[in-house]
This record gives sequence, C-alpha cells and structure tokens, in this order.
Amino acid sequence: MNDLSSLPDDFVWGAATSAYQIEGAVDEDGRAPSIWDTFSHTPGKIDNDDHGDRACEHYHRYSEDIDLMKRLKLDAYRFSVAWPRVVPQADGRVNAEGLAFYDRLVDGLLEAGITPHGTLYHWDLPQAQQDRGGWPLRETAERFGEFVEVVADRLGDRVKHWATLNEPLCSSWIGHLEGRMAPGWTDLTAAVRTSYHLHLGHGFAVRALRERIPDAQIGIVNNLSPIIPASDSEADRLAAVRADGHINRWWLDPIVGRGYPEDMVKLYGVELPVQDGDMELISAPLDWMGLNYYFRQFVADDPTGAVPSFRQTPGPNAEHTVMDWEVDADGIYQLLKRLTDEYGVQKIFITENGSAYYDTVTADGRVDDPERTAYLEGHLAACARAVAEGAPLAGYFAWSLLDNFEWAYGYDKRFGLVHVDYDTQVRTIKSSGHRYTEMITAHRAR
Ligand code: FCB
Repeated sequence: MNDLSSLPDDFVWGAATSAYQIEGAVDEDGRAPSIWDTFSHTPGKIDNDDHGDRACEHYHRYSEDIDLMKRLKLDAYRFSVAWPRVVPQADGRVNAEGLAFYDRLVDGLLEAGITPHGTLYHWDLPQAQQDRGGWPLRETAERFGEFVEVVADRLGDRVKHWATLNEPLCSSWIGHLEGRMAPGWTDLTAAVRTSYHLHLGHGFAVRALRERIPDAQIGIVNNLSPIIPASDSEADRLAAVRADGHINRWWLDPIVGRGYPEDMVKLYGVELPVQDGDMELISAPLDWMGLNYYFRQFVADDPTGAVPSFRQTPGPNAEHTVMDWEVDADGIYQLLKRLTDEYGVQKIFITENGSAYYDTVTADGRVDDPERTAYLEGHLAACARAVAEGAPLAGYFAWSLLDNFEWAYGYDKRFGLVHVDYDTQVRTIKSSGHRYTEMITAHRAR
C-alpha cells in the first residue's frame, strides 16, 4: 500500500480541465474564435481532424459536471477562463454573456462546496489578437492584462486562487518553434519573443489581481521535466544542460528573480525586448507555483538539429501511456525536490498530472482502467515522499476531470477520471475515479 501519511491535513484534492478542451459552444453567446479554433480547423493539424466545436459540451452541462465533482468528493476544481468568450475581439469590448458563464460556474462550485481555482490563459488566444500579431508583440501582453482586470473585477469576490498562465513553454516552443500547436509557427525569434511577452503578460496579470483581490492566492503553472543525458559522453552531457535551460530554467529563473539564463540567451541569439521595470513585474512575488508533470526526458546531442540542438531519446522504463510518454513516478518527486531545494519555492500545487489510455465502457456500464489507477497511486506516493522530505506541496489536481479534446491528438487519447461518450455525452466515472475518491476519503478520515 502506498504511504500518503506525510500529506498535510489540509491537502487539497482536485481535478483540472481547460476551457477549449471541454466547453464546446464555440460560437454561442458572443464567443469569437481563438487560435485553437483556427488551428484545429486547418486540415492535417489534428489527429482525425478533430476540433473543439462540441467537445464535452461543458458550457451547457456544467451543472452535471459539478455533480460529478461532488460524487468524486473533490475539494477543488481547476478550470480556465476563455479569453475569446470574455473579450472576443481586439477592440477590448467585454462580452457580458461570456463572463456570465463563469459566474454561473463559480456559483455552482461554491454551492457544492468546491473551491474554484481559475487559470487565466490556457492557450486560447483570441484569433483577433493573433491577427494583430499575437504573442510576439508586447501589445498582446498588455491586452492580456486588461482581460485579467475584467475577470478579476467580476469573479474576484468569490475566486481567490488564480493561475496566470498554463505552460508557457507549450505556447512558446511548441506553438511558435515546433509548430505542433496553435498558431503553428516555426520561428525561433517569434518563439523567444512569445516567451518573453507571456512572462510580461503574467506580470501584468499579477499586478491586476493584487490590486483587485487583496486576499488572492496567485501562481503560475509550468510543465517541467527532469533531464537526463542519453549517454555519459561530453556532448550528451552538454546537450542535457541546454535541454534543462530550454525546458526548465527558462521558465523558472525569471519568475523567481534570477533573470533569463544567460547561456540560453546566448544560444538563442535573440534580443529580449526588455523595457524598464519589466523584470520586476515578471518576478513579482507569488503565493505558490504550479507544477504539471507528465514525463522525464532523456536527451542526446543533435549537432545538425535546430537550436537548441538536442533530441529526445526513449526512456528505459517498460511502461508507456498511449501518448508514448514513459511512466516514471520518481520524476514528480525529483521536480518537487528541485523546486523546494534549488528554487526555494514556499508553496507548490501539482496543477496537472495524469495518464492517457484508450478506455472503453463495458457492457454493464463500467470503465476499468487499472493502468491509470496505478499511475495515480504511484505518483501520489512519490509526492508524499517529497513532502516527507520537506516539499511544501499543498494539493494535487488530477489531469483530467473528464476525457477531452487533447489538442493535436484529438479525442482518442483519454486522460479523464470520468469517461465521456462523445456521441451521447454520457459521463461514467472510471475505476481510477472511484479509487481517487477512496484515497480522498481515507485521507480526510485519518
Ligand atoms: C498539458 C496541458 C493540458 C493537457 C495535458 C495532457 O500539457 O496543459 O491541457 O493537454 O498536457
């Protein structure tokens, strides 16, 4: 049996989702397209040419989904607010109907005794902002700050937990360098400028939240990976240092006030458009840091590949999810230790962690997912091990509450604790979801 006894009494048990992945209703009540609507409707970009038009119809079924959270006995729910619903166009006009949806959602959560944890940017930039130049431009960071002001004014009396950005690495490196996510660019200069303006937007958001919600608990969410050289050659060892810069340090150092890692600034060779006061905004004190953990990365030197000139090699563990991600629970322990010991972070949430499989419903209406159950138990046990050694972990949000639109992978790869039949929209709690509830109940009762 896994030992979770080190987790604090007030440990927060949650599950996470994001707007575009579950809401559907993409053209209702004044929502305008985001870059993900455009990208997913571009043939060939998404497996099966899937898109989020309908997704889990959460926009209409949110009450039913809150009931599921209650049945799962969650303390908290992490969701994102869609910018293209709230400020759909570039003119800054607020769409009252879009904002009203989040009002209803938050009231429903509070009524159910579930604490809302809002995320302000989970990749769905309004297409109108993209048309003006998108994240490579400073203007987009400013507009993001204004959107956050609107959301804070409306929800701040009831929502105290806020994350500014989700995984800016993905928006920057995967969206603007590798081209596998929206907006699908492959341009190093644009990617580096995007990362900078996302961080600046984070800074504007923190300022707006602090001014409007004095008791706010504010953080940022990064996806990090332990990096291991593929061999003990000097070349692979140096590749691992670059990979660590690209994947981890670039996203942590400026936020904690260490500035951008100099080795990486030099390697990218792109001038950062820093203006007076920016770095102070970017490193404004936070109340917590969010860690999304999925896999560690083995890296080898790739001298002919594009900067930062490394490639990932397969990890040695036999177990992989259907994303082809190596299962390695120890990685979450390693990262919690690193945030604690090397970065001095005072409070951490696991804001996402989970696994994808091809789950199916049995004839008698069950979804048996022993691999996901083992994954959940193993990763929570690794978290507890880090806590026993001093990591200030305050809570865990399983990714995801529901099966949903998994970006470029479409709907086949299922991460939910709850199965969604996309034809009928019937939800079924999987055995991993039931197991999660047992763990929550046992923790509360101890
Ligand atoms: C993360 C994303 C989340 C989900 C998981 C599987 O990178 O934040 O939306 O897609 O991966």
